Amino acid sequence: MAKAQPASEIDWTNLGFDYMDLPYRFLAHYQDGKWDDGELTEDGTLHISEGSTGLHYGQADFEGLKAYRTKDGSINLFRPDQNAKRMQRSCARLLMPAFPEDKFIAAVKQVVAANADYVPPYGTGGTLYLRPLMIGVGGNIGVHPAQEYIFTIFAMPVGAYYKGGLKPTNFTTSYYDRAAPHGTGQSKVGGNYGGSLLPGDEAHKAGYSDVIYLDPATHTKIEEAGSANFFGITQDNEFVTPKSDSILPSITKYSLLYLAENRLGLKPVEGDVFIDDLDRFKEAGAMGTAAVIAPIGGIEYKDQLHVFYSETEVGPITRKLYDELTGIQFGDVEAPEGWIQKV
Ligand code: PLP
Ligand code: COI
Repeated sequence: MAKAQPASEIDWTNLGFDYMDLPYRFLAHYQDGKWDDGELTEDGTLHISEGSTGLHYGQADFEGLKAYRTKDGSINLFRPDQNAKRMQRSCARLLMPAFPEDKFIAAVKQVVAANADYVPPYGTGGTLYLRPLMIGVGGNIGVHPAQEYIFTIFAMPVGAYYKGGLKPTNFTTSYYDRAAPHGTGQSKVGGNYGGSLLPGDEAHKAGYSDVIYLDPATHTKIEEAGSANFFGITQDNEFVTPKSDSILPSITKYSLLYLAENRLGLKPVEGDVFIDDLDRFKEAGAMGTAAVIAPIGGIEYKDQLHVFYSETEVGPITRKLYDELTGIQFGDVEAPEGWIQKV
């Protein structure tokens, strides 16, 4: 794998969401019941046993967060404590050892600082995406938790996750389920995404940005998209997002529930979103770290495309939410207490 091109040669305004082998990543090992201190390394290849549980039994979880270049040239992190905490919950679900929150945040800052040239300039829309990852390693063959683990954080500059960016794209519903009712849907574990590859591929081939999964028990309610949570804005100005035990508790979602109420005067609602009752929404979108806020033009369900605001224009409330959230992330809008950490 070739190393990333020098930062000075990158076209920051045309970044996609693609892997790049940056100069530095953080790597820590868990052995004999404890984590070592970890360190920055230049080697982007992991050297692990063929018996690693992360390879066979899906004992692998991850996170996603971003670093943002501000107008004054400094670098912001958005709520990294929330990523640290969620990763600890994912680890608990897979019987993996927690990585301490303070060390997680310190390691994120170390990786960003070491790769600071690759944090896209302010105003380009680009960000540095960070991928914390933990896997069970060592020689194993029975279905049991590993005794040894690797925790790494690598990074790369990214642009829009869904091709449209703030331009609406269409989503489709799927026959497949993303998660089981009492499975691992709440956890950010590799297996959830492995199972989403086929439905995602079918959706992309049919021209849709992503899949909207329905609840696995009844297939009547929207759960979330393959890589983001769902929101809709009702005719009465409610900000509605599904409540379910089998979706990822999105940090962007909880941030937007707060901002919708406290900055935009919308009523925040976490509740049922029935797929045959989409008329209640005048706007809809997908939200997440990678997705940011991606307006949904329409959702296909049973061969019918239900269009919300427009297939070509972003709705006014979605745009306001986007401006408020990204304004906070890039340091242009005052952040609620504790949401921004400086690198
Ligand atoms: N849902 C899924 C399945 C995701 O992969 C993500 C991305 O992390 C999200 C929702 C959004 O979560 P967050 O806002 O914490 O990035
Ligand atoms: C994120 O938004 O950080 C995600 O993890 C979504 C996707 C890239 C898996």
